[in-house]
This record gives sequence, C-alpha cells and structure tokens, in this order.
Amino acid sequence: MLLELRKVSRSFGGLTAVRVVDLQVEAGEIVGLIGPNGAGKTTLFNLITGTFRPNSGTILFEGADITGLSPHERCKHGIARTFQLVRPFPNLSLLDNVAVGSVYGRRPAPSRRAAEAAARETLGMLGLLDRAQRPARTLTLVDRKRLELARALATHPKLLLLDELLAGLNPSEVLAAMDMVRRIRDSGVTIIMVEHLVKALFGVSDRVAVLSAGEKICEGTPELVAQDARVVDAYLGTDHSETTRPIALA
Ligand SMILES: Nc1ncnc2c1ncn2[C@@H]1O[C@H](COP(=O)(O)OP(=O)(O)OP(=O)(O)O)[C@@H](O)[C@H]1O
Ligand SMILES: [Mg+2]
Repeated sequence: MLLELRKVSRSFGGLTAVRVVDLQVEAGEIVGLIGPNGAGKTTLFNLITGTFRPNSGTILFEGADITGLSPHERCKHGIARTFQLVRPFPNLSLLDNVAVGSVYGRRPAPSRRAAEAAARETLGMLGLLDRAQRPARTLTLVDRKRLELARALATHPKLLLLDELLAGLNPSEVLAAMDMVRRIRDSGVTIIMVEHLVKALFGVSDRVAVLSAGEKICEGTPELVAQDARVVDAYLGTDHSETTRPIALA
C-alpha cells in the first residue's frame, strides 16, 4: 500500500471539513476524488501533504507513519501536489521555476547544472521546452497549469496530488491533459486527482472516492460510483426517487 489514511478528521473551528475518512491507495493507481464544493477535497490533500495536521487519525506512506511530518519532509518522501490556484514564481523563467522544484524535493539536493538538466527534461515531457527562458507570468492558463505539473514532477514524486488541474481548460486542452496524466502514471507515479469535470475524471480513474460534507460516502470503480444513489443525491442535492439514474457524465 502506498498511502493509507486511517480515520482521519480535521476541523476548523466548529466546522468538520474532513470526518473520519479512511482511504487506501495502491502504487500505480489513478484515484479520482469528487464531491460538491466545500466537501473537503482540498482539505484532504492538505492533510496528505502536511499543510494541515489531522485532529485525529493516522496517515501512512509506504507503511511508515507520516502524520507528524512537515510538508518539506513529506516532499522528500515522495509526495507532491499541484494547487487549485496555480502559483508559479511569476518573474522566474520556466526553467528556474522547475529547477527550484527539483532542488527542493530531492535528497541529496542536485547541483544547479543537474537541476537544470532535470528541469529541461520535465519541461520537454510537458511540451514547454521552447518557452524555458520566458518568465512564468507570460504564460496562458493552460501552460501555467503545465508548468505547475512540471514543478511537482521535478521533485520526483511517488505520489502526485492534482487539485482541479482541468478547471478552466477548453475541451481539447482537457483531453490533452488527461493524456498527460496517463503518461505520468505510466512513468511510475501514483496519482490522486480532484476534479469537477466528472466525465473526464471517470475516464482516467481506476477508482473513484466521493466526499460529501467531509465524509467519504462512496468508493469504487467509476461505473459503480456513477450509479450510486448517495452520489447522485450529493450532486443533485434533492430527493431523486428514481435514483438509479446515473449522474450526468456530460
Ligand atoms: N484553512 C481553513 N480555515 C477554515 N476553514 C477552512 C479552511 N480550509 C477549508 N475550510 C473549510 O472546510 C470546508 C472544506 O473545504 P475544502 O476547500 O476542503 O473543500 P473542497 O471540497 O476542496 O471544495 P471546492 O470544490 O470548492 O474546492 C469548507 O467549508 C471550507 O470553508
Ligand atoms: Mg478544493
């Protein structure tokens, strides 16, 4: 088991954002994570990366208890993420943005030359090499998202958490991004993806987990989850008596 969450909870004041969630992720999987706005998806990512500590529960990575580790330490163990709101260093070149990730995430830290070589390789894989010397602020949204992905990959993660990578992309950009996600997985990286674009997510996920109001209400293959009455209700928010109707995958 690569990642295991055991009864993990996290509150903010009186609000329980994540409530007694169990989750297991095997190496090589793409796990989709869906749920309505405010369901706790990003909070769950923050608990996995160490941005927040859980109020209770345990997080294991490769069998070791990482619950008390800092984000920096977890990064060195091989956990990386992209952010829902992409935030590269705007005035650094693409190359430097990615090279920073490679220096930060690796143990021992590589030389500048080695970091730049690795950054070039990652930029090439994501189709950004021709823009390597440009400042990040000049990029379009889709390329900023690719850069965000490159920065995460430069830390050589075993587990990559993608938070709404597809948001704001047009349909052909979404298809290209899903292809890229598959290729990243095929290169040996395990992935957990949060997306509101359910159809695209279900197309690429081996398994899907559903959060609603902080609780995991369903988990299984995309086919199974799409037909689950609780999931349909959580998304439509009303009583749909003929709930065998699958959620709209359009
Ligand atoms: N740092 C924080 N301080 C206080 N409340 C927070 C904090 N982070 C998240 N919350 C609250 O926890 C709940 C879950 O938020 P979270 O961002 O995890 O949801 P989400 O599923 O990612 O939603 P979205 O789909 O809108 O991104 C929300 O009610 C949110 O307001
Ligand atoms: Mg979120």
